[in-house]
Amino acid sequence: MNVLVTGGAGYVGSHAVAALQEAGHTPIVLDTLELGHKEAVRGAELVVGDVADGELIEKVLGKFEIECVMHFAAYAEVGESMVEPMKYYANNTLATLSLLNSMFECGVKKFIFSSTAATYGEPEVVPIAEDIAKTPINVYGHSKLQTEEACAWLSRQTDFRYAAFRYFNACGAHRSGEIGEAHQPESHLIPLVLQVPLGQRAAIKIFGSDYATPDGTCVRDYIHVSDLASAHVMGIDYLMRGGDSTAMNLGTGHGYSVKEIIETAREVTGHAIPAEEADRRAGDPPTLVAKADRARELLGWAPRESDLKTIIASAWNWHKSHPGGYA
Ligand SMILES: NC(=O)c1ccc[n+]([C@@H]2O[C@H](COP(=O)([O-])OP(=O)(O)OC[C@H]3O[C@@H](n4cnc5c(N)ncnc54)[C@H](O)[C@@H]3O)[C@@H](O)[C@H]2O)c1
Repeated sequence: MNVLVTGGAGYVGSHAVAALQEAGHTPIVLDTLELGHKEAVRGAELVVGDVADGELIEKVLGKFEIECVMHFAAYAEVGESMVEPMKYYANNTLATLSLLNSMFECGVKKFIFSSTAATYGEPEVVPIAEDIAKTPINVYGHSKLQTEEACAWLSRQTDFRYAAFRYFNACGAHRSGEIGEAHQPESHLIPLVLQVPLGQRAAIKIFGSDYATPDGTCVRDYIHVSDLASAHVMGIDYLMRGGDSTAMNLGTGHGYSVKEIIETAREVTGHAIPAEEADRRAGDPPTLVAKADRARELLGWAPRESDLKTIIASAWNWHKSHPGGYA
């Protein structure tokens, strides 16, 4: 199948492109390259452009006879979303509505959407099930929730079908070592930890060590980016066999603390990785772990590369060989 992959030059999107190719599909990437890297698009057509450019999108959908759109393109920095909220509503909500409008104009009615655990806010019950009330605590989470709600209405009222995937903490790198995480600035824990053995950072800061968790540090559900990618490929099969529109968590159902991440990184890299304890950051819930059954039941998906050592070893393999990212 010909699949349009928006944001396919970014971290998760580039791994989805690889998984689509491995499964025999033909991905066509559309990316502004504002945050993505053309080097991350390997062996696929790359169209440089914006999802909000309706004329371009309609041309691409027609020219490549696209049957399904995977939409990764977005801004994804929680802190920035609180300082520049309109930037997030414009790109994550308005531009996505424009993309959906272009799809409707061209009769493309299958959509796989990158959503996020940030749509939930700070749930009291963990593991987090898909159907709990969603009360995001930042603009980023709200901008994604708005798109999910629009998709739900479009699906109720028309023959449009979608799967929204709520990722927990995406991490790791492709087993080839040729694509991986290269955000600028970097805000994710594992690449930040690995900057210490790379000599790019003296120590890693632990924000809060007095949470009500087993070792006092925040617990998160880490899911390998290649496992996310395979869920997207399975999402195509699900929609093609008539699966109902729905949202699914993508996580392992198991949480690791910040201290466990650092300890495993020490084992994998053989480096002492000094850590410094610092104050809590505002808006960091103690524990975010997915209830991960729905994707297993509906897609037949199971994480295969998400045990912590495999995640960190794959990330280390990538960062060691690309210490400056794709530069
Ligand atoms: N990385 C995570 O841990 C995580 C967790 C939850 C959800 N997500 C979601 O997954 C998606 C991918 O995240 P990522 O980490 O790969 O981000 P990324 O920044 O690496 O990739 C996003 C890509 O989209 C492109 N882009 C942004 N706006 C665009 C536009 N209007 N038109 C065309 N291209 C545009 C960027 O240039 C970039 O290449 C995002 O939607 C994000 O919200 C990511």
